[in-house]
Amino acid sequence: MADTDSLVAQAIEASKKAYVPYSHFPVGAAVKTKDGRIFTGCNIENTSFGLTICGERTAIFKAVSAGCTELAEIAVYGQTKKPVSPCGACRQVMAEFFAPSSKVTLIAEDGLTVAMTVEDLLPYSFTDLT
Ligand code: THU
Repeated sequence: MADTDSLVAQAIEASKKAYVPYSHFPVGAAVKTKDGRIFTGCNIENTSFGLTICGERTAIFKAVSAGCTELAEIAVYGQTKKPVSPCGACRQVMAEFFAPSSKVTLIAEDGLTVAMTVEDLLPYSFTDLT
C-alpha cells in the first residue's frame, strides 16, 4: 500500500536524526494521524540513560503536541536483523492514541517488514480508568 510505503520511507529517514552516542542504535518512526498528517521521530539518548526517549514516543508525542490525539498508523525502523520490536513503554503509549486495529509496520535494517496491529503488540491493554 502506497501510504504504508511512504511511512516506511519516512521512518527510515527519521532514524538518520537519532541522537544515540551511547547505544549507537538509531531508531526512526513515522506516524499518520486520522486526518492524514505525518509526524516523524527518532530516539534521543541522555548521559543519564533512563531519560532516553524512543523513536516511537518521539513521533507520537510530536503528533499529540500538535493537537492530533487520534492516530491511525505507525511505521518503526531499527537496525535489527528481525523487524524491530517496540519496547513495552512505547506499546502502552501506542494503546493510548491508536485504535486497537491500527496498522503497525516494523522494519529491519535490510528493509524486511512485518505488519501487525497495536492490539497484537499489546493485547488486553490497560486503557480505561472508569
Ligand atoms: N529504542 C527505541 O527507540 N525504540 C524501541 O522500541 C526500542 C529501543 C531505543 C532506545 C535507545 O536509544 C536504544 O534504542 C537502545 O535501547
